[in-house]
Amino acid sequence: MHITVIGAGRMGMAHIETLASLPGVGELSIADRDADRARAAVDQIAANRIPAHATTRARAVPVDAAFADRADGLVIVAPTSEHADLVIRAIDSGIPVFCEKPVAENVSRTRLVVERWAGATVPVQIGFQRRFDPGYVSARAALQAGDLGSLRRVHLVTGDPKPPAAEYIPTSGGIFRDCSVHDFDILRWVTGLEVDYVFAAGVNRGAEFFGAAGDVDEVVAMIGLADGTLATLQASRYNGAGYDVRMELAGTTAQITVGLEERTPIRSAEAGVAFPTGKPWPDFQSRFQTAYRREMETFLDVAAGTVPSPCTPQDALAALYIAEAADLSRREHRPVMLAEVGGSRP
Ligand SMILES: NC(=O)c1ccc[n+]([C@@H]2O[C@H](COP(=O)([O-])OP(=O)(O)OC[C@H]3O[C@@H](n4cnc5c(N)ncnc54)[C@H](O)[C@@H]3O)[C@@H](O)[C@H]2O)c1
Repeated sequence: MHITVIGAGRMGMAHIETLASLPGVGELSIADRDADRARAAVDQIAANRIPAHATTRARAVPVDAAFADRADGLVIVAPTSEHADLVIRAIDSGIPVFCEKPVAENVSRTRLVVERWAGATVPVQIGFQRRFDPGYVSARAALQAGDLGSLRRVHLVTGDPKPPAAEYIPTSGGIFRDCSVHDFDILRWVTGLEVDYVFAAGVNRGAEFFGAAGDVDEVVAMIGLADGTLATLQASRYNGAGYDVRMELAGTTAQITVGLEERTPIRSAEAGVAFPTGKPWPDFQSRFQTAYRREMETFLDVAAGTVPSPCTPQDALAALYIAEAADLSRREHRPVMLAEVGGSRP
């Protein structure tokens, strides 16, 4: 297949590395607004600093060529503010598209993409990679098989070991839209339940640039799900112990935890308990390596038309509404129904 990647930055390079190694990709075109970055990525493949599959040919192309060339699939990893225009251009060009989360920087631009996608036949896959992580996949299967009994409580954790660069924060949308949105998406996907309301709190206890951008760096939230299940969430930009992503599901007969394994950055206070003993995960790239690979493998199938998109713009909009409600709730110190921010049960 011929796949074109748009955006060879931090996340784009990770997807380029994966795509270059997949036997299903014969031709890999790389485009970036900064043409030097695209050329540098191709050079890295040529010099085998990015190991590629034996038959993969890589080349740098201008961004406009990415649409004119009519590749079999487009992978958009440009900054969030560029996503909506690029996805709509891909849909209008009839090219199957994978776009990193989030779909756009706000609800109205996300809705624009959803409307354009809903009227087209072109598949669009959004990059919520946790849906491909083996732990979340098996937790969802256990719940669906009835292994937990009836679901009663869920707890979600995302801890970044250190904050992103100061310049990233003002355009990030804030911690709920930028970071917890992964938890909101996976909560819907694993439980199959929609969210009714959110009651959130947040504080700024770290760098001043969070506060200056109207953002916070430590948050908690209580989330009410449609069947009455109660969920709690916490997220931090300062989890110095390591990169910590977990989801606990408690049912009437059993409990299961995603992300509790040898590299979980947590230590037991109990005497004689050594687990976990591994080196804590340092970042999202290493923690979700398997998930990112499966996500790209699936996109090749989506682009080939053999499977439907596993994460649509509509799914991304649903997760964004939860983030909107959480942000409003923590600003106004009150519970917010999803309907108040425009979200409603589909
Ligand atoms: N799923 C995840 O876990 C995850 C993790 C990190 C980032 N992301 C998402 O990935 C996206 C990219 O983030 P990043 O950290 O790689 O950003 P980045 O700034 O490192 O890279 C963006 C690249 O896009 C290029 N670019 C800018 N505008 C362009 C345009 N119009 N056309 C072509 N190229 C353009 C820039 O030159 C740069 O090389 C963001 O939307 C972010 O939310 C997702």
